[in-house]
Amino acid sequence: MSFPELISKDSIQKRVRELAKEISNEFHGEEVVVVGVLKGSFIFCADLIREIDTPVILDFISVSSYEGTESTGELKINLDIKTDVTGKNVILVEDIVDTGLTISSLVERFKKSNPKSLKVASLLYKPARIQHKVDIDYLAFEIEDHFVIGYGLDFNGLYRELPYVGIYNGEV
Ligand code: IMP
Repeated sequence: MSFPELISKDSIQKRVRELAKEISNEFHGEEVVVVGVLKGSFIFCADLIREIDTPVILDFISVSSYEGTESTGELKINLDIKTDVTGKNVILVEDIVDTGLTISSLVERFKKSNPKSLKVASLLYKPARIQHKVDIDYLAFEIEDHFVIGYGLDFNGLYRELPYVGIYNGEV
């Protein structure tokens, strides 16, 4: 199955390198704890950390708020990080900020651990859908209100493996 391409593989790689450079310049030599929000951010995280030029500790958290193409409005932690982030530089990595519920809830949760710094990176941001205020420190692309798949993003578990970001135009 193929979908209309919204963001090409090459454009993604270029932006990921630029964001990694920003992060490297900001932390220049200091350790950062990169926390990928599963499952959608796993490819973005993998590409990002390979371009970051400062020591990286990688961890993952798994949360769910979605069924099909709709947010349920509630956040459930399925798997928590193993790293103690107190006094550490933390970067939360999301695939997409849609309503903002996931990342704003995670930011509040992580603040309680008193990290040295707390930043948010996201591959995509859909401003038309935002309901919870979020500051995204490292954003790759702002997009229109489409349901998108590929480069880690899924529809009901499918299409994460696509190398580009496409518009999901199938049945919902
Ligand atoms: P939020 O909590 O509403 O910001 O939604 C964040 C999560 O919803 C993301 O991490 C995705 O897993 C999922 N999501 C939101 N929009 C899309 C989309 O267009 N495609 C695939 N997943 C999406």
